[in-house]
Amino acid sequence: MSNDPPLSFLTSFVDLDDAASSPLYRQLYVSIRTALTEGHLSSGTRLPSTRDLADQLGVSRNTVVSAFKELKSEGYLESRVGAGTFVCDNLPEQMTRAFSSSAENAASLQLADTESRTLSLSENARRVSDQSFTALDDPVPKTAFRQGIPALDAFPIDTWAKLASRRWRFLPSEKLVYGDSAGYPPLRKAIARHLRTSRGVRCEAEQVIVTSGAQHALSLAARVLLDPGDTAYVEDPGFPRMWAVFAAANADLRYAPINDEGIALSPLQTGETPTVVGITPSHQYPLGITMTMERRLSLLEWATRNDVWILEDDYDGQFRYSGEPLAALQGLDNAGRVLYAGTFSKTLFPALRIGFLVVPPDLVTPFVEMRATMDRCAPRINQMVLTDFITEGYLKQHIRKMRTLYATRQDTLLNAIEDELGDVIDISSSNAGLHLVGRLPQAVDDRAVSDHLADHGIIALPLSFYSNRSLDRGGLLLGYGCTSEEEIYEGVQRMSAALDSFGL
Ligand SMILES: Cc1ncc(COP(=O)(O)O)c(C=O)c1O
Repeated sequence: MSNDPPLSFLTSFVDLDDAASSPLYRQLYVSIRTALTEGHLSSGTRLPSTRDLADQLGVSRNTVVSAFKELKSEGYLESRVGAGTFVCDNLPEQMTRAFSSSAENAASLQLADTESRTLSLSENARRVSDQSFTALDDPVPKTAFRQGIPALDAFPIDTWAKLASRRWRFLPSEKLVYGDSAGYPPLRKAIARHLRTSRGVRCEAEQVIVTSGAQHALSLAARVLLDPGDTAYVEDPGFPRMWAVFAAANADLRYAPINDEGIALSPLQTGETPTVVGITPSHQYPLGITMTMERRLSLLEWATRNDVWILEDDYDGQFRYSGEPLAALQGLDNAGRVLYAGTFSKTLFPALRIGFLVVPPDLVTPFVEMRATMDRCAPRINQMVLTDFITEGYLKQHIRKMRTLYATRQDTLLNAIEDELGDVIDISSSNAGLHLVGRLPQAVDDRAVSDHLADHGIIALPLSFYSNRSLDRGGLLLGYGCTSEEEIYEGVQRMSAALDSFGL
C-alpha cells in the first residue's frame, strides 16, 4: 500500500490569495516549501500529480508546474522518471535544522538548551532592558489618538513610486555597491540646503551625515561623545528613546525638569558638569513648549564655557502653524557645541528610515568612522529617490500641504475636546507639532485612565510614561497627525463616554 499522503493532506497547507500581489505559483511554492521545512512531508514522499493538485486547488496546471519547477531547482523536490515527483532525501534546511519525524524534538531540544543557560549580557544591555525604555509605542493600532505618526494617507505615494521606478530603470549596475558612510553626496547637499533655508541651520553638505532616522543619529552621537560614567542630561518629561540611548552608552543619566521657557538650567549648572545635554528646543517632546530665545542664549553660553555638547533633536520642527518659525538652536551656535539631529519620519513617513545629523566640521571624521562600524551606510537607492523628491520640489510642497492639514486637525481636536470634555481635560493650543497634551484633574492616575481608554479602543499614552518623577498633574498625549477630522470627532465622543464610565 502506498504511504503517500492523501491529496487533501497537502492542500491543507496551501493558502492561495487571488488578490495578493505575489503570483499564485509563488504562493504555492511558499506553501509547499513551508510544509516541507516544518517537517510535514518527509523525505521520499511522493507528491500528487500536477494535474490532480491543480484540479484540487482550482488553479491552472501551469501554476503547479511552475511551483514544482522552482522547488526542484532549489533542491526540495526531484522527478523520478516514470514514477512522479518526490521530496528529496537531503533537503536544503537539513543543513541547519533537523526536522521530519524528529522536527518537534529537535525544536524543543534547541529551546531547552537556551533555557538552561545563564545569559551574560553587557551592563549596557541590562540597563536598557531593566528600564524598558522602548516598551512604549510600537506597534500601535491605527486608531485615534495615535501620536508620532504623520498623515500617511496624504503622502504622495504615486509620486514616490514614479521617482523610485525612474531611479531603478536607469540605475547602472555598478551603483549596487556600498555607499559613502556619510551618505549619498547629492542627498547631503540637498539636506544642507533644505536645513539652511527652512530651519536656519548653519551648515555645509560636508557636515551632514545621513542616518537611519533620528534615533540612529542620537545613538551615533552617544557612541562618539560619551564614555561610560560620563554625565548626560535629558529632559523630564522627555523622549524615553533618547534616555535609552544615553543609558546604552553607560552614561550617568540625569533628568532636568521643563519649565515655561524650556529645559531648566539650574540643575545643569549646579551639578556635575555633563558631557552631553539632549534637548528638543523647537517643540519640546512631549509638552510642546518652544524654548525661549533667552533660554537658548543662556544654554549656549553655559555649554560653550563648560565644553558641553548639546544634542538638539529637531524631530518635527517643520510643523509650525502660526507666528514666526523659530530657527534651530544650532543656527545660534558660534562655538561648534551643537549637534543637530533630524528625520524624514514626520515630514514624509517613518518606514523610510532616513534621518540626519549635522555636526561641527571637526567632528565629521570621527562620526563618519564610527558610523561605518555600525551599519556601514544608509540604503543607497532610497537616498537617491529622496534626493529627487527634495530637489524636484516635492518635499517643500508636501510640507506646505501638511502644515494646513495638521493645523485643521489640531483645531478640530481642540474644539471637540472643548465641547465634549472641557470640564475634565485641560488642553491648550500649540502652534506646532503633531500632538497635544491634555492635562487630567489633579491626583488622577493617568496610566489607569490610559489603560481604561485602551480598553475602549482609544490610544492616549499617559504623560507619566515620559517622566521619571511623580508629576503634579498627569495627562494624555493626543496625536492628531494621522487621524482624520471625522475620526477625531468620533474619537473624542468615545473618549468622553469612556472617561464617564471611569468616573471622571
Ligand atoms: C522626539 C523624537 N525624537 C526622535 C524621534 C526619532 O525619529 P526616527 O528615528 O523615526 O527618525 C522621534 C520619533 O518618534 C521622536 O518623537
